[in-house]
Amino acid sequence: MNEKETIISTFTRAIDSSCLKKAVFSKPQDKSIVRSVARIFAKKGGESFVQLETFTSDNKALHKNLSITEAPEYLAELALSQYSQTNIVAMSGECEIKISKKGKIFISDKIVYSDKAEISDHNRTKNYILASAPGHEKFLELLGICSSDGKIIDKKQSKFRQINRFIELLDDVYDHLPSDKELLVCDLCCGKSYLTFAVYYYLTEIKKRSIKMYGVDLKRDVIEYCSSVAQKLGCTDLTFICDDISNFDRGTPDLVISLHACDIATDIVLGYAINHGARVVLSTPCCHHEMMKQLDCDPLSFISRYSMLKQKLCDAATDSLRCLMLSAHGYSVEALELIDPDDTPKNLLIRAILDPKMTDDRKAKHINEYKSAASFLGVDPFLANIVNKEK
Ligand SMILES: C[S@@+](CC[C@H](N)C(=O)[O-])C[C@H]1O[C@@H](n2cnc3c(N)ncnc32)[C@H](O)[C@@H]1O
Repeated sequence: MNEKETIISTFTRAIDSSCLKKAVFSKPQDKSIVRSVARIFAKKGGESFVQLETFTSDNKALHKNLSITEAPEYLAELALSQYSQTNIVAMSGECEIKISKKGKIFISDKIVYSDKAEISDHNRTKNYILASAPGHEKFLELLGICSSDGKIIDKKQSKFRQINRFIELLDDVYDHLPSDKELLVCDLCCGKSYLTFAVYYYLTEIKKRSIKMYGVDLKRDVIEYCSSVAQKLGCTDLTFICDDISNFDRGTPDLVISLHACDIATDIVLGYAINHGARVVLSTPCCHHEMMKQLDCDPLSFISRYSMLKQKLCDAATDSLRCLMLSAHGYSVEALELIDPDDTPKNLLIRAILDPKMTDDRKAKHINEYKSAASFLGVDPFLANIVNKEK
């Protein structure tokens, strides 16, 4: 078997045994392309096909659908002629194909062909929670996520997936919100407010709740735009405020949400939630700069001497300390993956639910754990300085 036949056979086996998760084609020869990703999908009637999604450097995503029979040869040819690296990722193990500058092909196949992969439903958009909210197309269109015929615009696909996933993660904990009152909800650092409107429609149209909702951001033009969209949609109980979120104070929120609030803005969000005893908090951090300047920990210098690894360490340590601080204030906390890391590397979601039964002893244990971790790292995070110390 030559290399091409070996690769065709690998794709065939991975697809036929349903263990293909995805194939990622990277290091393209054509610099106008970033990468391609192939995945198996199922059509409504049950028939499967392979979809190849190619991301271009001008932020477009192009799609090509291949039948199960034609896919192995097409993908093998793609791997050999257009990319220097291809990873065929299976449920268990992966096959890596690398092509050197001199054209030598290296294939390392560690796939275990036994497990079954789940075939994604190509019509998943129809099952998105948001899709069942009457009127959702209108706000998606006004915010530029879908066209007037209701189709999601290619370069907004990942944003659409992101907000839908966020709603799913909110839906999981919806029952922790009070059921007998108007809900007070805020989206801090709302930006263009895709998420704000999505949560608004989820709560008002799907859950049929009466709410008062605020979106807050520093950008005046964006806030003016969001206010005009809210007006066009007749969302009278949704108010956009142009201000620093540190000035925001509308009492005890039931739900605090935040998607990609920059650096310590995430701490301001969490501090607000903690200090006001918000019932449910969903926050996806963004960039992490604070700890990069503070970290002072000799035992970890074997990591921090490499700036890229230091950043990963600081990202993880910052978010873990945030989780601990929430726990120390009576929250039951989870650190979840928001979305496929292929979409964005900033894909951690901190989900916290106020647990009224958490004992003071348990909170004290968390705060002690927090203090010893911060002292070990030699850091004094912003969040620790803005939360109510007596709690
Ligand atoms: C990365 S964007 C995310 C926007 C939106 N949540 C989204 O996911 O599309 C971060 C936003 O945070 C806002 N921001 C950062 N610090 C802020 C602060 N202290 N007060 C209010 N807004 C802030 C910025 O203006 C920006 O719109």
